[in-house]
Amino acid sequence: YPDFKVENEPILGYKKGSAEREQLIEALEKASNTIEDIPIVIGGEEFRTSEVRHQVMPHDHQHKIAQFYYADNKLIQKAINKSVEVQAKWDRTPMGERLEIWNRAADLMAGKYRQKLNAATMLGQSKTTIQAEIDSACELIDFIRFNAFFLKENSKYQPISENPCVTKNSVRFRGFDGFFAAVSPFNFTAIGGNLSYTPALMGNSVLWKPSDTAVLSNWVVYQIMREAGVPEGVVNFLPSDGPVFGDAITSSPYLSGINFTGSVPTFNRLWQQVGQNINNYINYPKLIGECGGKNYHFVHPSADPQSVITSTIRSAFEYCGQKCSACSRAYIPESLWTEIRDGMIKEQGKLKVGDVTDFSTFMGAVIDERAFNRIKSYIDHARSSDKLDIIVGGKYDNSKGFFIQPTIVKTTDPKDKIMVEEIFGPVLSIYVYPDRELDATMELVGSSTQFALTGAVFANDEAFLRRAFEEFKMTAGNFYINDKSTGSVVGQQPFGGGRMSGTNDKAGGPYYTTRFTTIQAIKETF
Ligand code: ALA
Repeated sequence: YPDFKVENEPILGYKKGSAEREQLIEALEKASNTIEDIPIVIGGEEFRTSEVRHQVMPHDHQHKIAQFYYADNKLIQKAINKSVEVQAKWDRTPMGERLEIWNRAADLMAGKYRQKLNAATMLGQSKTTIQAEIDSACELIDFIRFNAFFLKENSKYQPISENPCVTKNSVRFRGFDGFFAAVSPFNFTAIGGNLSYTPALMGNSVLWKPSDTAVLSNWVVYQIMREAGVPEGVVNFLPSDGPVFGDAITSSPYLSGINFTGSVPTFNRLWQQVGQNINNYINYPKLIGECGGKNYHFVHPSADPQSVITSTIRSAFEYCGQKCSACSRAYIPESLWTEIRDGMIKEQGKLKVGDVTDFSTFMGAVIDERAFNRIKSYIDHARSSDKLDIIVGGKYDNSKGFFIQPTIVKTTDPKDKIMVEEIFGPVLSIYVYPDRELDATMELVGSSTQFALTGAVFANDEAFLRRAFEEFKMTAGNFYINDKSTGSVVGQQPFGGGRMSGTNDKAGGPYYTTRFTTIQAIKETF
């Protein structure tokens, strides 16, 4: 196999006058002056249906940047047939060749197409430059490179032979003789690339349903992978209506698995449909899902207030609180409250909300009208409830873009819905606890929500940290000590949560790739 090492892709700075900034400005101009026509692609063939949809810029919602088409049931069936047809040949492609394609793709993403990817992510998903850079450049490139590396490393494992003179034992990773479905979200271009191309790397063929609100950046990923050498039909690009796609894939006997990121109800529905069809499949489909979170920052009286302020503001409000890992509830001791509150209000005042192509903007708009209305309803709830107090923010305006001010709400009820339900927007809820009620408040962290994605504790007291390490074990798949709950890095902190946050298969870690294989153990006797 090609011998290669992996390192995380460095984050570029985009300083005034830098080459990357000039290239990005050019790419932004080009993308905002185009309505990209994005076809359905099945086995390399392009299709367009009468179900035409558009992607707009969330921070300027009258501005279209892409036109695309929903695949209907007939086209999805066609894609299933094509996938099944090409899978065996693709699975026989030597691993070395596959690794070379993936490394070539990562190089294209890191070089030639970096700013095209970033521009599509910034305009389509309303990310600022730095938020796009850490997503559609660094994290995407890291997923592609590290997954190839993990495949190679995992393949080195050979079972121990008891009698090496007469027997040889080995294992091989095989793709499934069916297809995988990848259903990806809007909030990370990198997740789109990971959900679709990891099953493909492992020898599967894939039907990829991108999110309507990330279709442009996902299309750029698809094109780069094709240019790098992924054969026709291995990944099929199928924007489509969610339930139509879900019904078609779950009723096919060839469904090998679903790689999903999205909401709990959608994942549960897919799971139920798989259950209903369980007698019809040729393989047990693997269900891999990341669903949601109500991520917490828990602050101990021994914590450094300045570190709490900076970390919490960043975690709650970067990318409008729309990262799966964003902090959405905080528990703060009374003894630190005044200092932390004043610090947060000051920091919030510095956050510029607006057009993401302005390099000084901190936060763009939330993704669409539905998200805007949902988030707004929580702010309205805070405004009308006696138990809740809006400390700062609370304004919203969707006349040009779906803008919502970074909002901090204090509650006297730690079980109010604002502390329990996923909001997925720039609203941070805080429960200020009496210092003497530390134990009872710690208990709330795990018991008050159904989620367990990310969580962070802030403290300098070592005895408390040891306690939190044990007692918060099941409250977060990604657990941070004295750092914010966002920002996991591929290869460093494999990402995923338990409980209703998902199946916790840890994207970006060495175990993830093996989920998409069916392993054969071989004993050779001489
Ligand atoms: N890597 C992303 C984060 O942790 C998902 O925020």
